[in-house]
Amino acid sequence: MSSTEQTFIAIKPDGVQRGLIAPIIARFENRGFKLTAIKLVTPGKAHLEKHYEDLKDKKFFPDLVEYMNSGPICAMVWEGMDAVKTGRTILGATNPLASAPGTIRGDYALVMGRNICHGSDSVENAQKEIALWFKEGEVVSWKSAQQAWIY
Ligand code: TYD
Repeated sequence: MSSTEQTFIAIKPDGVQRGLIAPIIARFENRGFKLTAIKLVTPGKAHLEKHYEDLKDKKFFPDLVEYMNSGPICAMVWEGMDAVKTGRTILGATNPLASAPGTIRGDYALVMGRNICHGSDSVENAQKEIALWFKEGEVVSWKSAQQAWIY
């Protein structure tokens, strides 16, 4: 059964530089998800290495960290039914060339090293990532009047 979840979504430095914050937010809002945290951050290398800890042995890891460290990142928490898996569907495949049109990566990106956005890949990782990127109190619990028309 689907449940209400929180997921960590980040607009990577290329997405911010290309002016894609608004269209990306619009996709999540239009789908019916609720924004519960948002900030623009340059968290630094150590933080980014921690975020991508699971990939530290990959050949592309140093380039990935350098890319993520190249400018501000828009960090967000989105909440709603099946938010983790559906968030990944909205983002598209890791490789933009394999992403369907209509997804963020399928509409705006061509290569993996500039794939615009990040989304948690499991509920457990979402909780870890939210705790890494946001301090207590930065994630806001609020009631949206629209929810009754979405669910
Ligand atoms: P990964 O966690 O596998 O994908 P996703 O972001 O879809 O969860 O990889 C993290 C990022 O690393 C990915 O968004 C882009 C980059 N990456 C590469 O640059 N080259 C690669 O071969 C892979 C698999 C990922």
